[in-house]
Amino acid sequence: MEVVQTIDELREALLELQRTHPNHPRQLVPTMGALHEGHRELLKHAVAQGPTVATLFVNPLQFGPNEDFDRYPRDLSHDQEVCQQEGVSLLFAPFPQEMALDQQQFVIQPKGLIQHMCGPHRPGHFEGVCHVVMRLFSLTQPDEAWFGQKDFQQYRVLEAMVDELALPIRMHCVETVREADGLALSSRNRYLSPQERGSAVAMFKALDQLKQAIEAKEASALLQKRRNELHAQLSVAGFRLEYVDVYDVPTLTPVLEPHPGQPLVVAAAGWLGQTRLIDNLLIDTESI
Ligand code: PAJ
Repeated sequence: MEVVQTIDELREALLELQRTHPNHPRQLVPTMGALHEGHRELLKHAVAQGPTVATLFVNPLQFGPNEDFDRYPRDLSHDQEVCQQEGVSLLFAPFPQEMALDQQQFVIQPKGLIQHMCGPHRPGHFEGVCHVVMRLFSLTQPDEAWFGQKDFQQYRVLEAMVDELALPIRMHCVETVREADGLALSSRNRYLSPQERGSAVAMFKALDQLKQAIEAKEASALLQKRRNELHAQLSVAGFRLEYVDVYDVPTLTPVLEPHPGQPLVVAAAGWLGQTRLIDNLLIDTESI
């Protein structure tokens, strides 16, 4: 596996990859590093489909002024090892200046898909994600790109960007990898104290209950009550909750009364101490 840090090196390495793997669809897995089993799952899927480029860049644009950009975990040698083990062909870990973020003249501004869920709580976040992912797409020219369901709103926004801007990239969304108790793996879990780690699983449990209530076709009034109970339950567990709700998958708007067959996702975000956690579960559409 080759590791490159400049655009010139990347372009050369991509030409070489093209030479050694002609007619194989190039796969891309963008990450911010601190790679865990969730990232590994994306890499495994990608590598199974073709020569894989992984990127590692902690994108300052997607962090708010009071977020954790400075303390975000950085460990290039560990990440390099993970990529090597998973069979990645090329790791692009750009020097910050290669991403040209201080010369930004354009903004990709998502619209409808960021009106709810994390959008209102993280102003500028999805613009920052779109800008950097668009640049990574341009630089690496993938045929296919892999993202996690863990960040479902991010996936939907990027999928819409690819669609609307007619980028010739096939998008994939990989199911969330979890700890044995259900907690979704996240690079941020390492910030949790042992006590917070104990409480963190409450978010998955609340979402699972909401999912089961919907799949059991609970009437909408009951569902609303259930949602409020879960809100209270998560507060008791120590969460400063931003949201827990049911959303329509195509529009990511809240759903009060699910229609039969409507694609739905239950999602939540909240803070435990200094750590922001998110999670979501897709509803089995057949069941409603
Ligand atoms: P990062 O948080 O490093 O995540 C990289 C990819 O791994 C994302 O697509 C994310 O959804 C996926 N992922 C994270 N935890 C996962 C889990 N438990 N199971 C499955 N997949 C998981 O998301 C970003 O970086 C950035 O926003 C990025 C897309 C790289 C743009 O900067």
